[in-house]
Amino acid sequence: MTKVKDKLIWITGASSGIGEALAYQLASKGAILILSARSVDKLNEVKQKCKEKYNARVIVYPLDVSDFKAIEKAVSHITDKLGHIDVLINNAGFGHTQAFTEYDFSKVENMFKVNVLGLMYMSQLVAKNMIPFKSGHILNVASIAGKIATPKSAVYSATKFAVIGFSNTLRLEMKDHDIKVTTVNPGPVDTAFFDEFDPSGAYLENVSSVVLSADYVAEQTIKAIGTSKREVNMPKVLDAAAKLYTLFPTISDYLVRTAFNKK
Ligand SMILES: NC(=O)c1ccc[n+]([C@@H]2O[C@H](COP(=O)([O-])OP(=O)(O)OC[C@H]3O[C@@H](n4cnc5c(N)ncnc54)[C@H](OP(=O)(O)O)[C@@H]3O)[C@@H](O)[C@H]2O)c1
Repeated sequence: MTKVKDKLIWITGASSGIGEALAYQLASKGAILILSARSVDKLNEVKQKCKEKYNARVIVYPLDVSDFKAIEKAVSHITDKLGHIDVLINNAGFGHTQAFTEYDFSKVENMFKVNVLGLMYMSQLVAKNMIPFKSGHILNVASIAGKIATPKSAVYSATKFAVIGFSNTLRLEMKDHDIKVTTVNPGPVDTAFFDEFDPSGAYLENVSSVVLSADYVAEQTIKAIGTSKREVNMPKVLDAAAKLYTLFPTISDYLVRTAFNKK
């Protein structure tokens, strides 16, 4: 696939799940990768596999996206060394399911730092790198939870609604610079995400009919690179549900609190 071949693509959250799947698929297509997350050992394992299987060019850059000084350092280091970043995939994130009144507020702060503020700062600094080149694509991994609010997901949903709102504006502002902005909004994906989101495993089991694989999400995300797609929503049934949720909010509130309450 020529649209990603030899392109410099930075993936955050590349040590596991969707980010890891993105790394292998992009490596197989000849992209030059920068892999970031906190777990250096896991990133090095991903790098090793990309090199062994696809002879890919991969740089591991450990980064905690809730550390804004570290983001500044990372962007400045990468851009000084490598120049133009063609694609940024802001994928790092986590969730947690709990009734909001029982939520530890420090966790709210941390989730916003990782899922929203870190993503916004990465987008701002990388967009500034892309502007002089008049090209680039920023893909922000949000969620169907950023379109449909469900009980026990107040904080996670709020972070993902924020990512979609932010990306919608960024897309408008970047249009004049020929930089594309896309949100990737999957429903439930079978990854380590659920170890923290719902350690009981009950939720994943209850929604098993709509669960996606990380490989599928990565494949759909890569298809959007270089296109002007606003959003990649999946699976189709949850994309349709999100549209109905917007059109019929009152009945939707009733349904997500009753028949579709899976947590
Ligand atoms: N799984 C789902 O059902 C689902 C559905 C919709 C959207 N999503 C979104 O998809 C994205 C990827 O999730 P996943 O399902 O692939 O989960 P995952 O397997 O748990 O991967 C999450 C990735 O984010 C990284 N990460 C977490 N906190 C970080 C931090 N502070 N700084 C840098 N990296 C950090 C993790 O690496 P380290 O721990 O090494 O830092 C890991 O690489 C997330 O944004 C998630 O909200 C997931």
